Formats: sequence, C-alpha cells, structure tokens
Amino acid sequence: MKSPRTGRTAGESPAPPSVVGQAVRPPSPAKLPKGGVKPRPAVLAMEPYSPPTGDRADKLRLDFNENTVGCSPRVVAALKERISAGRLAIYPDYVEAKQAIARYYEVAPEQFTFTNGTDEAIQILVNTYVDDGQEVLLLKPTYAMFRFYCEVAGAKIREVEYPRPGVEFPLQAVLDAITPATRAVLVANPNNPTGTGISLTAIERILRRARRAVVLVDEAYYEFSGVTALGEIGRVPNLFVSRTFSKVFGMAAMRLGCLFSHPANVAYLRKAQSPYSVNALAVMAAQAAVADEEYIRNYVAEVLAAREVLCLGLERLGIPYIPSSANFVLAHFGKRAIEVRDALRERAILVRDRSYEIRGAVRITVGTRRQTRELMAALETIWRR
Ligand SMILES: Cc1ncc(COP(=O)(O)O)c(C=O)c1O
Repeated sequence: MKSPRTGRTAGESPAPPSVVGQAVRPPSPAKLPKGGVKPRPAVLAMEPYSPPTGDRADKLRLDFNENTVGCSPRVVAALKERISAGRLAIYPDYVEAKQAIARYYEVAPEQFTFTNGTDEAIQILVNTYVDDGQEVLLLKPTYAMFRFYCEVAGAKIREVEYPRPGVEFPLQAVLDAITPATRAVLVANPNNPTGTGISLTAIERILRRARRAVVLVDEAYYEFSGVTALGEIGRVPNLFVSRTFSKVFGMAAMRLGCLFSHPANVAYLRKAQSPYSVNALAVMAAQAAVADEEYIRNYVAEVLAAREVLCLGLERLGIPYIPSSANFVLAHFGKRAIEVRDALRERAILVRDRSYEIRGAVRITVGTRRQTRELMAALETIWRR
C-alpha cells in the first residue's frame, strides 16, 4: 500500500547518506530523470558542499567551533516557559526581540535585520548587491559559505591567498585587488579556519579603497577577539557587519544571526529577504541569551584560558600552530593529519581536518580547560606512538 505522506510503497525507503570517516559523502552529480530540467549553469558548476553533520551528539565536539558546554540555562528555561500551542500557530513577530537585541548591541532596531544564521546574512547581502557575472573579492582560505553564496549567485570570484606559513591577513594584496569592478568584499574577522584577525585600521583601509563596493565583516568570533567594526556602521555607508548566535551563545541549532548596516542599506536587504526566514523560537531564545551576559563573560574567559592550555600543550609536543584570536586553533600535523583526526575520533573526540585548504592542517575548537586536557591527553598518546 502506498503511504499518503510519501507516496512510496511500504518497505521502500530513501537511501541514507553515506558516512565516510567524518565527512558525509557529497551526492554524486545527480542523473536527471527523463525529461528533467537542468539547473542554472552557476549551480551546475558548483562543487557540492557537505560538511560532516551526523553522529556528533555524544562526542567531544571540537570540530565546528561551537560552544562546547551549551547555551545559558536561562535560554532553555525561557523557551520552556514561553512555548505554547497558541504561540506556535502564529507567524513570528520580531518587534519585542528586535528592541532587546538592539539594546544589547547598542544599535537602533533599524540598523539590523535578523537572519537565519550568518549564512542567510551572506546570502541576502550577495542577492541584494551582486548580479550574475559581477565581481566579488574573497580571501583563501576563509569561511566556505562566502564562496558558496557567491557561486549560487553566479558571481565572478577573485581570491587573495593568505600567505604561508604565517597566514597573517594579506592587507596590501587585498587593497591591490580591489578595482572599480569589485562589487563586494567579504572578510571574516577573525578568519576561519586560520584564526587570525585584522585590525580596525586595516578594515577602514579596505572600506576606503572599496568605496564603490559593499564590505561585509563577519564577526562570528568577535567575543574572543574583541575587535569590532560594529561601531562604524552609522558612519561608513558601505560597511556591513554580521554576528551570530551559533558560537559563543551556544545556539547553533537555532540558526540566528544579525546583519548590521546603515538603516537605508538594511531597508534594501529586507526587500531581498523572506519576511519570516527567522523562526519565533530563535528570537525568543536570543532575548534570554543576551539577558545573561555573565554566562557569556565566563565562557569567553574559560575559552581564553583553555586556548593557552592547548597552545602550551601543542608546543610541548612540538606541533606547530597558528596563534589564534578565536575559539579554535589551526595546528599543523603534516602527513599525520588524517591519522590523528581518525585516532581522536576513535576516542570520541572530533576535530576538523583542513588539509584540503592548508596541507597538514587540523582545526581544533577550544572548549573548557577540562575538555582541552582530555584532548591533550589523547593527542599525546597518539602523537608519541
Ligand atoms: C566565519 C564564520 N562565520 C559564520 C559562521 C557561522 O554561521 P551561522 O551563523 O550560519 O551558524 C561560522 C561557522 O563556522 C564561521 O566560521
């Protein structure tokens, strides 16, 4: 009998995604059904991006730069208290949450829009300002979603490489690469996966050079670096700053970000954004999260102390690493990168191999000191064998 929900005959089931080590194998280029319609050329040309997603819940997750202890208990309490059948039936109303989040970031409600994670912030920025074939400037390596949304839009991507081995921000090369054809410059500060940051003065130089382009400064890890361009949005007309609730706030599952800019820019972004892309629970949770500043302060202090433990531990083992301004460290395991990652995984500790960007590099999220000591104990055994 056919299921009314799926239309499939009982017993038939869709193929599960196959898990290879940590990564979910990307679907092979799908064969269109007879008479099927081809996607746009920009989508056909894209490499599938499939970050590892499965089987992480019961492990020490040092692979995605999340908060490793979870959000403030006040967030969970607020959700439990405020969820009701009636509330879930209503489309989201952002007014109250907007006021609260605006107060927290010391901006006006008109100076930002909520986004479905930073990912949607990047998407609406690109959709608002970049047309098919227009040029965007990215760094390499950087947050994968920059390239992803630029590719979907059919943008022409120019990349400036971080120099090796230090991977300091290549300011002069970025300035030189900005031309009148540049429509957007997307920068993560601190950058992922390098962990390296850029000064406000350097950002101002980019903003001045790219006067005819929009400049996004993605500050997903701001709380760990303390450097922000947010205070400049009222003054600099081409500046956009994004923040996320996925990292220090411990709410990655909620998918909430904020995209800040001049109110006139925000009004255009809103035109290109679905009116209800952010769900009501996410903004409810965010209100509770920003009300517990002490929780965030304590977590940041713990991570910064743990980052010292990690770096000292790596030095003791003779493993080179890049000094980081974020809650993760890029370590250089050379030829042993995959072996180390897999051996840690066998001990239920997840780290992220980045060899495909920087040969031999593994990115390690910094959690608490206790978690870091657990990691170092396992790593020492693996490394010395
Ligand atoms: C630079 C950067 N921006 C943003 C994010 C998070 O995005 P989201 O807010 O969509 O979870 C990450 C997560 O890895 C990141 O590294």
